[in-house]
This record gives sequence, structure tokens and C-alpha cells, in this order.
Amino acid sequence: MTTIRLPGLVDIHVHMRQPGAEHKETWETGTAAALAGGFATVFAMPNTSPAVVDERTLDLALETASSGARCDYAHFLGAGLGNVDSVAKSAGRAAGLKMYLGETFGDLRLDDPGLWAAHLERWPDDGVVAVHAEGPSLETVVGLAESMERAIHVCHVAGAADISLIAGAKERGVAVTCEASPHHLFLDRTSDLSFGRAEVRPRLGTPEDRRALWDHLDVIDCFATDHAPHTLAEKDGANPPPGFPGLETALPLLLTAVHEGQLTLDDVIERLHLRPIEIFGLPVDPDTWVEVDVDEEFEIAASGMSRCGWTPFAGAPVRGMVNTVVIRGATAYEKDLTVAAAGTGRDLRSEERRTE
Ligand code: NCD
Ligand code: ZN
Repeated sequence: MTTIRLPGLVDIHVHMRQPGAEHKETWETGTAAALAGGFATVFAMPNTSPAVVDERTLDLALETASSGARCDYAHFLGAGLGNVDSVAKSAGRAAGLKMYLGETFGDLRLDDPGLWAAHLERWPDDGVVAVHAEGPSLETVVGLAESMERAIHVCHVAGAADISLIAGAKERGVAVTCEASPHHLFLDRTSDLSFGRAEVRPRLGTPEDRRALWDHLDVIDCFATDHAPHTLAEKDGANPPPGFPGLETALPLLLTAVHEGQLTLDDVIERLHLRPIEIFGLPVDPDTWVEVDVDEEFEIAASGMSRCGWTPFAGAPVRGMVNTVVIRGATAYEKDLTVAAAGTGRDLRSEERRTE
């Protein structure tokens, strides 16, 4: 047994499904999954139902989060067709602005680059605009950010061409940051998954795409799960929605890769703690931490705390067990024993947190 203490880990990309699809996940179940996975903070995406696109829907989402969350959180606002002139007014209360420029689940997709530019222009410069973009749309939106000299964050980079494009932009001095998701680092099109269970956006890449991500580790600012739970019945049904759960498997998979020498522990801490804090301007609490046993070996279970009831990594042998999560001095998770009560998590963008 070798236990180590990591600082409070942050997952900047999670889909909580509440309101609107509570059969897939709720704040109570999703944040229990976060704690079991070693995360102290999650950022929720706005493609709920209703989508989070204005003050009213943000209030609704934050009220739900405030009564359900067992860990700390912040919520993204979604860039829509009808909120170009209004959404930025709530920027201070949000994790950032999310723009869906490609194929996705939900109805927040934006196809008009004129609208992308308008959103990029209006969102405050010190705030984060996170984009779901691949291929041509990624090229266009990075070009817009470059010409406007504003920062942009690229979600779940999955392919060789896209990571090279971002590497090139960084070399030119463009203020672009990006995240990669464990499923794009540890799975590819040749992985043994049935059709519906392999469905995810961006799609799983070729083995070469996967290798390109590892070869460009220095270009990847953050690891983010894109925890996108859909039930097993939905995934195995006739019209499977895209998305994988990821909160409970990310850290064991990454720690296993550390054990195997594919990256270092510092690489993990940088991408799950330091860079998220820098990019999103988060408060750091020295009494928030996670303890893991980096020697404990186990097989990933077929299902965990997430309500979705499955994982694409079921049966995978891993090494690195989350023992304890402490948030602001209080034990929020102890392996197989304690999970913090619903409603104990805090909104990291709330007024009192920002002025502390
Ligand atoms: C996400 C979801 O299910 O909300 N699915 C996914 O495959 N990543 C939507 C998205 O992020 O595009
Ligand atoms: Zn997502």
C-alpha cells in the first residue's frame, strides 16, 4: 500500500442531466460518482432540458445543483441563437460560455460562424469560452480567436489533425487551451465495444489519432471526462445517444498510465488541478484534497455510483484506488463508507466565494 495525497481535482466537463433527464443522472448521483472518482469540483455543461442559456435557466440549474451537489461545482452557460445580446450579462455567475459548433446531443448546436464571432466578442475577455469543435469548425473558430486576440478553450480534442492544429496555434502565440478525455486517450475505433456503446462525440479515433494525443501531451492543458451518462437501455437501443460516463474511471486509468510510465504524477496534477485553476480562475482551498492508494489493483466494475449503470471500461485492470476525498476540511468521501450529504457542495462562482 502506498497512499499519496493529491490536491483537489477538478473535472471541467461533466453532464449532470438535471433538469430534464433525471433517469440518466442527477446532481445527487453525478456528484457521488465525482467523489468516488476522486474529484472535489465539477463543471456542469448547459445542454440540459431546458438548456441553460439565460438568467432564468441558470437560476433553475443552480438551485437544483445547490440542493443536490455533494462536491463543489460551477455551471456553464450555453451560447444559443437567441442570446447573443444577453448571455454575457451572467458571465460572472458561470464557469464559462459553451459553444457547440459540431454534431452533439441536445439542441445547442450553432452553425453560423458569424454567430460564433458575435459570442466570442461579447463574452468578457477574462472569462472562458469553451468550444465543441472538430476539423473545419475548429480551424474557423481558432482563426476567429486569433484575429480577435481572445482566449478560447477547446473541449475533448480527439484527432491527430485537431491536436496538430492546436499545437500550431499555440506556437503562433494564440491563447488557445485544450482538454483531452480519458476515452480518447485509452480507447479507439478498434476497442471492443458494441455499436451503441461506442457512440460518443467526438467519435473514437483511429489508433493513430489516439497515439497523436499521447505524442502531444505537452499541448493538452487539462484532462476532462466529458462524463455524458445515458442508460444502458438507451445505449443498447435502436437509436443510441452519444456519450460515455467517465467520472469514476478517469483517475484510476490515468494513475495506471503513470504506473506504466506513459506520463508522470505531476502531469496528472497539472491537468486535473493546476491548469483548471489557472484557466478558470478558481479559488484554491488547502483543506481540499484526495488520498489515493497508487498500489491497489482492481478491475473496473460494470457500474458504479452514476445512475447510467454502465461504463465502456468495465473489466479493465487498473491500479490506483481513491480512498478519501476531503472538501474544505470535511470528509466528503471515504471508500465504501461515507459520501457527503446532498447540498453540501458549493458554487465556486457564487458571490460569497468570489469575494472571499
Ligand atoms: C454529450 C451528451 O451526451 O450530452 N455527448 C457526447 O457524446 N459527448 C454531448 C456532447 O458533449 O456533445
Ligand atoms: Zn460534453
